[in-house]
Formats: sequence, structure tokens, C-alpha cells
Amino acid sequence: MCGIFGCILKEGNAAPLIHSSLKRLEYRGYDSVGIATISDGKIFMKKDQGKIDEVHKILNLDDLPGNLGIGHTRWATHGAPLKVNSHPHTDCTGEIMVVHNGIVENFMELKAELQNLGHTFVSKTDTEVIPHLIEETLKNNPKLSFVSAIQESIKRLEGSYALAIISSRDPDKIICARNESPLVLGINGKGVFCASDIPAFLPITNKAVMINNGELVILTAQGYEIKKISDSTPITREPITIEWTAEMAVKQGYPHFMIKEIHEQPETLRNTLRMQDHYLDLLTTFLDRANEVFLVACGTSYHACLAASYMFSKLAFLPTYPVYASEFVEQHGKSVNIDSTILAVSQSGETADTLAAVTCAQQRAATILGLTNVIGSTLTRISRVYIGTQAGPEIGVAATKTFTSQLSVLAQLALKLSKKRGKISQDEMDCLEENLKKMPEDVETIVRTQEEKIKQIAHKYKDSKVFFYLGRGISTATAYEGRLKLMEIAYIPSIAFPAGESKHGPISLVENGFPVVFICPRDDSHKTLIGNIMEMKARGAHIISVIEEGDEEIKALSEEYIEVPKGIPSVLSPIPFVVPLQLLAYYTALEKGLDPDMPRNLAKSVTVK
Ligand code: M6R
Repeated sequence: MCGIFGCILKEGNAAPLIHSSLKRLEYRGYDSVGIATISDGKIFMKKDQGKIDEVHKILNLDDLPGNLGIGHTRWATHGAPLKVNSHPHTDCTGEIMVVHNGIVENFMELKAELQNLGHTFVSKTDTEVIPHLIEETLKNNPKLSFVSAIQESIKRLEGSYALAIISSRDPDKIICARNESPLVLGINGKGVFCASDIPAFLPITNKAVMINNGELVILTAQGYEIKKISDSTPITREPITIEWTAEMAVKQGYPHFMIKEIHEQPETLRNTLRMQDHYLDLLTTFLDRANEVFLVACGTSYHACLAASYMFSKLAFLPTYPVYASEFVEQHGKSVNIDSTILAVSQSGETADTLAAVTCAQQRAATILGLTNVIGSTLTRISRVYIGTQAGPEIGVAATKTFTSQLSVLAQLALKLSKKRGKISQDEMDCLEENLKKMPEDVETIVRTQEEKIKQIAHKYKDSKVFFYLGRGISTATAYEGRLKLMEIAYIPSIAFPAGESKHGPISLVENGFPVVFICPRDDSHKTLIGNIMEMKARGAHIISVIEEGDEEIKALSEEYIEVPKGIPSVLSPIPFVVPLQLLAYYTALEKGLDPDMPRNLAKSVTVK
């Protein structure tokens, strides 16, 4: 999730404006920054790794000539956060400059093809194929205009992109295009602007033109022209007036980052599911060879590990040990060895407990694999192989979109390993892959259809003194995560455990009106879970169930029910089933007048042991 910005001013230099606009997009990533401008038909460019202020101090980003330019603030996905991977990226001639937000899924094929044709690549990014592709298209069709060459080139891209492109070959234009990554134009009497997001230009103008998927935009000092990438059909779209304040704009109109991030999950899941097979294959090979596998993490990331232990066991017959990172050294520090493999999972990649566990295992020659949302974090530097979760920066202290992204990577790994080991039938594999693919849609449906109902449930139960969260099998992990969310942002003491354990002690707490949240996918444990619900009901508990649509049996036993779409396989169920629990925690915190983005005593990244 990077930030792009471009502008053509009627008067004055573009670079200072691009710089200040990128600052307002820094919440989208800050691994590196770069600006390219055109003056007198010549290209000028500055870029480096580091936060915008750091780079500006050294390079003076404002000191670039020309009234037209583009800029980028990066959140690394392909390639480490280094200068060489910073945007803008260019072709062999240095005449074409591209900034990009998104993921070009087929970049490896394109890169190989272009390298065979003699193109030289300098970075590890997916983006760099774009300027080379445009260069090659122009070489093969010298009569083509620069705009048409871009249009033809991007037709070959698979994946997501918001692009802003400039060139000394056509020095008075910025050409933009969009597929699945956000892009918006800003207009005022002084110039035209393109950006990933409205906050970038809000202090300059509140007149915006939204760009849709499959559209190409030509910006000139005179204005903008939109057309379809596929067949050049012109599109007329008038600016709308944005009423947001600058703070609202950063949150895209949502009152809090947490709810914005909950709503972003269809998009972040889509991005994560676009993961390059190559990385998954590599990690799968290590897991396949491992003698013993520890899944090590803290908090929400630990819950992803717990769910993953069921996925690996059920799909690939691989036993794994989920371990709280803070306990790893005490529990396994002496026995971990050269034959052990550690898969460390951490949103930030900087959690001290996780890094301590990893360091201990590394000193004893174990293989370290990493799964993190932050490329360039310590975890990526100390892992033998790592995968990025592609969720974009998560600002809310409560992890939401990174949890579902972690789960979707772990599910993909389990499926790959299962395939490699030939453990499940082709039909089952097809069904699981199909279901994983439609997960973004399912999450979209849940948020769209259940949010209002969840608000009412939050209102009704906001004064409860304690909650239970129960599930069986993999849903135990979902229950743990739902309970952590409620505790950390709504400050309601909550208890989660496998539903079968309730009769071994915790049930003594239950009295009239006691809220018990049951996670109820329609899996092999459904019947037994109904028994557990009955036990709770018999003691006066109020059942709040998360059920599959049309699960009349559990519906009839519940005071409240929240529905998720039908037919979700059990091993994938934590992804959709956790979403209502995130919403329940969020709305309960609001009901109690709390700020869900800033829960007391907590920090986004816990860098102390
Ligand atoms: O960055 P990490 O995933 O390593 O962080 C682990 C925990 O600190 C984190 O999940 C924490 O529990 C969150 N507040 C959960 O919402």
C-alpha cells in the first residue's frame, strides 16, 4: 500500500507541492520516497530509502525544477526498502518515469521476456517492468503516441495498479491508470493533481474526480481526459465536492482507523491472495523438510498460529506446535536444534518477545521462516525466507486486517503443502481453493449485511461484566481472537476456551443473562457444539452465535445471531468468522465511549520483553 501523487501546475515548481502532498500520504507507507519532474523537456529525479523527512534533509526534495512531476512514498512489497527499489522506476533510456501502487502479478514472466529482449533491470520490484514494457512497445511501434504505448502496455499487466507516468518523450502530460488500487484526481484553478487518496490534495482543493478500475487518465495543464483502457471509450465525469476535514480524509471518512481497517479487509485479502507462488513454494519446501515446526508469535499473531496448526494438521498432516513467543525460550530453548523449523508470525516484525524466541532458535541452528506485514523489519532480516502479508500499514492498535491476511497466507501454505504431499483429493483441493478465492467477497457480504445488527448487539450487552467466547476445533482460535479484541478495546473481562472445556470448570461462572459468544461453522463439531450451547442455556446464559446463513438449529437456540455466508470450509472459517467479532468489539468500545484506536496501556508494536 504505497502513496502516489502527481501534479501539473499552471505556475511555479511542482516539487515542493509533491513533497508536502506525499507527507500527507505517509500513513500509506514510508520505506522510501522519490520525486521526478520535467523541466524544459528534461527529466529530473531524486529518490532514496527512508522516511520523507530523513530523505528530504539529505537530498532537498523541493529542489527539482519544472511545473510537472510525480512522487511516491513506498510500503515495500517486492524488494527490500532500499534506494534501488524506490520509485520512480525507469526504462533503459531513463526517459520514462513510473510510480506505482499495487502488485503486478505477472511481473516475473514479463521481466524474463524483457530481459531476453535486452532490457536491463536494476531493482527487485514488480513495478520496473512497466517502464521497460512501455519502452519496448514504443520500439516496436515507433508511430504510436506515448499515451497509446502506455495503454497497450498496461493491457498486459495482471494484478493491481494505480500508476502515474511521465516522460521526456511527451513532456506536458501525466498519464495515470487504475486497476483495483485507489486513484483520484484533484482539480482547481491552479492545476491538476492525481493521488492515491484525497488527503494528499485536500489543503489545495476539495474538488475531486474518482477514477474507476479499467480507466486511463491524461492530465495536462488544461485539465483531464478519462478513457477506458480496453477500447478507448471516452468517459465524462465531473468533479464532486469533498466535505471531509483533513483528519477525516486520512481515515477516508471513517471515525476510526480500526473500523476503516475492518472495512478494508476485502481489499487486503485480495492483495494477500495475489501472493507470488514462488515465495509460497519456497516456504512450503522448508516446512515439508522440517522435523518439527514451531509456530511462534504473540497476541493476535499467536491466534493466527493456533488456527494454522489446525490447517497444517488437517490439510497436510503436518503436526506443528503453536507457542507464545514469550514462553518459547523457557519451554523449548534447550531442545530446539538444527532439525527444528520456526515459523515466526508478527504483524510488525519487531515484537521483542518474538525476536527473542527467534534469536534463541537461531543460535541453536534452527531454520527461521518469517511471516510479517512489514518488509524490512527485523524479522525479515533475520529470517532465512519470509513472506509479506500485503495488508498495508495497520494503524489501529487492535490488529484486524493483518490477522485475516496472516490467516490467508497460512491457509495458502497449508494447501500448497497438502498438494505437495498428496494428502487430500483433487475435489477437496478445488473446493478449498475456490472458497479461499471468494473470501474477499464473503467478508464484504458480512460487513454489508451484519454491521447494523452487530451495533444493536453491542448496545444491548455493553454493560455486561464478563463475556465467554467459545468454539471447537479451529474455531477455538477464532474465539480467542474475538475475546482479545473485546478485552483490549472495550475493557470487558472476557474468557475464551475450547467449548468442550466449559464443563470442566468455567461453567460455574454462568448465571442468568451471562453473554456467551459461540463460533459455529457447520463442520464436524456442529452437533457437539449444540450440546455445549444447551449446557450454557440451561444455566441462563444468553447465546450470541456466529452462524452460517440458514443454520436454523442454532438460530433457534440463540438470543442473538450473526450470519456469515453458507458453505465456508471449516479450515478457512476463522477468516470470515472473526470479522463479526472485530465489529462487536469495535461497537462495544464506542457504546462505552472509548477510543478504539488508542486503548489504554497498549502500543502497536511491543518492543520490550
Ligand atoms: O506485531 P505483532 O504481530 O508481533 O504483535 C503481536 C501483538 O503485540 C499484537 O497482536 C497485539 O496483541 C495486538 N494488540 C492485538 O490486537
